[in-house]
Amino acid sequence: MGTVTLRALHKSFGSVPVLSGVSLDIADGEFVSIVGPSGCGKSTMLRIIAGLEVQDEGAVEIDGRSMAYVRPKARDVAMVFQSYALYPHMSVERNISVPLLMRRLTTAQRLPLIGRFLPGARAVSAAIAQDVRSVAGALELTPLLGRKPGQLSGGQRQRVAVARAMVRRPKVFLMDEPLSNLDAKLRVQMRTEIKELHAKLRATFVYVTHDQSEAMTMSDRVGVMIDGELIQIAAPHVLYDDPEDIRIATFIGSPRINLIAAHVADDGSLHAAGRLLALDHRLAKAARITVGVRPEAIGLAQDDTETAMRARIRLVEHLGSDLLVHAESADGAEKLIARLEPRTGRHLRAGDVVGLTFDPAAALLFDQDGRRLRFPRERPHALLSRVLAET
Ligand SMILES: Nc1ncnc2c1ncn2[C@@H]1O[C@H](COP(=O)(O)OP(=O)(O)O)[C@@H](O)[C@H]1O
Ligand SMILES: [Mg+2]
Repeated sequence: MGTVTLRALHKSFGSVPVLSGVSLDIADGEFVSIVGPSGCGKSTMLRIIAGLEVQDEGAVEIDGRSMAYVRPKARDVAMVFQSYALYPHMSVERNISVPLLMRRLTTAQRLPLIGRFLPGARAVSAAIAQDVRSVAGALELTPLLGRKPGQLSGGQRQRVAVARAMVRRPKVFLMDEPLSNLDAKLRVQMRTEIKELHAKLRATFVYVTHDQSEAMTMSDRVGVMIDGELIQIAAPHVLYDDPEDIRIATFIGSPRINLIAAHVADDGSLHAAGRLLALDHRLAKAARITVGVRPEAIGLAQDDTETAMRARIRLVEHLGSDLLVHAESADGAEKLIARLEPRTGRHLRAGDVVGLTFDPAAALLFDQDGRRLRFPRERPHALLSRVLAET
């Protein structure tokens, strides 16, 4: 078992609050990622779980047991750092075996030269060597066991760091941006390896990264942390399609979601970018609403009669599988990015003026505090399905 529970963790460094009430329940064997901009408190949260840092308030439980006063070594967690933290003068084999040597051999047995002749030392050393070989085999490090970290590539070093975490067979793996020192291609490849490792070990993974695509591709659930708060934690597609908060909507998704200032007419109807968004509800007259539309929900208006926002194209980016059109309204007030199929947008050039339209069913509404507006009586998909041309 390896459940992790965080209860209202608070942490400040001096007068600077870093975590402001982080609560989280992680199931046994789950892969949870925490994603957020640099400096938002991700590493601090992970270090508190590991026991390397102590919270000011709140509690950490592993398998339902409070970790207060439980030292890092006694927590049955292993941490993989961004920097790998390998010993440069030791071989790969020695690096991987360090956690086992520290645990299984007594201080006397670890002494150079004489230690190995003490009673029991030989059997323990043989068992450790066996465990190291097994982990090295699983991570395809066997041919590298005799090398020093300096003789390895970035990806290989990263794998050694994972092997060192694995060798103790901990219940919980804590990974702090383990891929951020690798080049882009290798990073994508290592994502698959880590995901496969998780499937094989069935241990609990808590993975911290500033890279949303890393978090989204690997995890069962992703938590978005901003300024020391976990704003939403959900399956990747839920964060993308159904964000609770405008900060989630803008953080998740690349290119970024389009945000359009909407206005509420005298009769309470909502208008954005030349469209009337039909709602069963009437909104308060002066309400300031922001409409979020993902780039793939924006399209070219098919004909002139369709109500559309007139926009001038600033840039067309050909990405192969799709095409990004950056455009702005005539007054420059609205900037939009549309993701089109290459066939649809092949003829477009910078400077062209086009009509852009969006599927109102895909629009997300946020109030002036950035909270998602929901209309509970309606089914989410039916919410905006009736579109009327603005008069
Ligand atoms: N030991 C420390 N002493 C003082 N400030 C710290 C310490 N560790 C982290 N911080 C500060 O806490 C904030 C959050 O840091 P961190 O948890 O490392 O963020 P992240 O991992 O999300 O980039 C940052 O502003 C950082 O400067
Ligand atoms: Mg960090």
